[in-house]
Amino acid sequence: MTNSRSLFKKGSAAAALWARLDPERLPRHIAIIMDGNGRWARRRHLPRAAGHRAGVRAVRRVVETCAHIGISVLTLYAFSLDNWKRPQEEVQFLMKLLREYVRKELPTLQRHNICLRMIGRWQELPTAVRQDVERALRATTNNTGMQLVVALNYSARAELVDAVNALLELHQRNKTWARVGERELEALLYTRGLPDPDLLIRTSGELRVSNFLLWQIAYTEIWVTDKLWPEFGEADLLQAIYDFQQRERRYGGLSPTEARARSEQVYAKMAVSSSCSSAQ
Ligand code: FPP
Repeated sequence: MTNSRSLFKKGSAAAALWARLDPERLPRHIAIIMDGNGRWARRRHLPRAAGHRAGVRAVRRVVETCAHIGISVLTLYAFSLDNWKRPQEEVQFLMKLLREYVRKELPTLQRHNICLRMIGRWQELPTAVRQDVERALRATTNNTGMQLVVALNYSARAELVDAVNALLELHQRNKTWARVGERELEALLYTRGLPDPDLLIRTSGELRVSNFLLWQIAYTEIWVTDKLWPEFGEADLLQAIYDFQQRERRYGGLSPTEARARSEQVYAKMAVSSSCSSAQ
């Protein structure tokens, strides 16, 4: 992990937040629903394309900050299957931005030892996009630092459908199982091998998960900010991590405090009953 002093400007909000974080308890995997590019542009009387360009600048900031502080996996929701419903010019512009990103950012990804990975039906995208993406994937495949996972042409329901179809195919070929469990299904998700997200961030104040990583976020902490994605910066990211560290993750069990109190009660009862029996 890089020394925070060289990372965040002295006296900045980010530096103050970083000083309050426990570096031993950073989320391993952060997933982000980047929302609000259009609204950011509208508020400035700019075309939506300007909002998406500003969105890419925010992507750069967040990717670099996550890599610097030692996040293992960062997943960004870049383009959903539903995004095809947008006007053709906007879809084309988003594709152009994605191509630009994977080309221009490659030296930065290499410098930070970042391994790029795609999830979604991205192989169905136009050839030119696919080729640029494949080039970046190949170039970063041996990098051992943060995994940058881009959800591209992604839908969580489609991911589950694809996994079930893959299961059916395997079954027809090998007749391996009579029943399948979570492990078998998980092994066929686009995210196989990745830890589930610990923290899901959504910008622009919407309280929805928008068909994103539905299986994987079963126990994820959700953090929503009213800030629009182009405004999101390193201090917002660190604030989200700080808030995450204040939460108690129970996974359906008891909190450590409740568990301790309960075991103390049980011991107290045992002590009372044993003293009663010894008195009899
Ligand atoms: C949501 O804003 C944003 C998107 C649909 C696209 C996100 C894409 C980028 C930030 C750029 C490319 C990404 C990468 C990883 C290089 P919106 O258009 O839905 O905003 P609105 O809800 O305010 O209209």
